[in-house]
Amino acid sequence: MTRHFLNLADYSNEEIYELIELGRMLKCADKLGACPPLLHGASLGMIFDEPSTRTRISFEVAMTKLGGHALYLRPGEIHLGKSETVKDTALVMSRLLDAIEIRTSHDDEIAELAEHATIPVINGMGTYLHPCQALCDLMTISEHLPAGKALKDITLVFVGDATIYENVGTALSHILPRLGAHFVYCAPEGYVADEDFYAPAREACEIGGGTFTILHDPKEAVKNADYIYSSVMWYEGFDANKEKRMKAFLPDYQINEALITCAPDHAQFMHYLPAQRGYEMTDAIMDHERSLLWDEAENRLYGEMAILVKLMHGAVKNPSPEVKAQQKALIESWIAENL
Ligand code: CP
Repeated sequence: MTRHFLNLADYSNEEIYELIELGRMLKCADKLGACPPLLHGASLGMIFDEPSTRTRISFEVAMTKLGGHALYLRPGEIHLGKSETVKDTALVMSRLLDAIEIRTSHDDEIAELAEHATIPVINGMGTYLHPCQALCDLMTISEHLPAGKALKDITLVFVGDATIYENVGTALSHILPRLGAHFVYCAPEGYVADEDFYAPAREACEIGGGTFTILHDPKEAVKNADYIYSSVMWYEGFDANKEKRMKAFLPDYQINEALITCAPDHAQFMHYLPAQRGYEMTDAIMDHERSLLWDEAENRLYGEMAILVKLMHGAVKNPSPEVKAQQKALIESWIAENL
């Protein structure tokens, strides 16, 4: 059965540690100029129904560095879900490509594509989850652990919206407690979902022994934070609720110089980006020496290289040089005789 990457929670703790380690090895190799072409000749279709800087660039560069090729498929440029069913597009893409990455706010479309595709489908961000960002953030955290702590020991405090609109928070809350770590949401009243929504996070605590907590007081919440994670307060172009959200989040839920005095001296700052500077985070925090924002963006490349290799490497055909030479000679002699 084809393995997809739709939800990080579909991967065991061991597999997550393996992906982080593979990402770190590929990063090291790339920095030495020795990235192996593990996906030579492979093609990744990238469907983007939403804007993207990091996801689009990182997947395309990842495929290039691994010896493959990526196709950027813009809205309106393919027939998906309009003049062709999602199923038919999945079947066609499965014959033409080696994997598909998709970003859309229609989670059902991602699920349907994966149901019918016979090649791996990667969730490049839906409404509910952003599993690629979550995995790459775990890699960044692993590279910047507090002295004496492992990934399973850390406390990450996510300041902001604790509802379905926070797909990175949701994804991390389903994994960190399963690894044994501590996930804290700090959200204003009115930005917390029904308890049912947190069932996967509660279940992760039972499996892994970590904790999942929802608090409302940011000063209290960051008291034991190893990482303070912030997310966008409002999106340009989707700002119908801007005034309401500003009133709920500012000034208390902004990560700023005053708030970080309530956190341990070693606490580091995270944001998946894009950020609205001066809203959820001040300039001073984004550009702080303990800011991990730019490492997170860079690690999108290496974490996703690991995902691509895990999903695709076994399926890429690697013929011997003799077979390649034989096939080339056959085609060349046919061309010489017939064209
Ligand atoms: N964090 C993230 O997914 O960024 P993009 O929207 O730029 O891809």
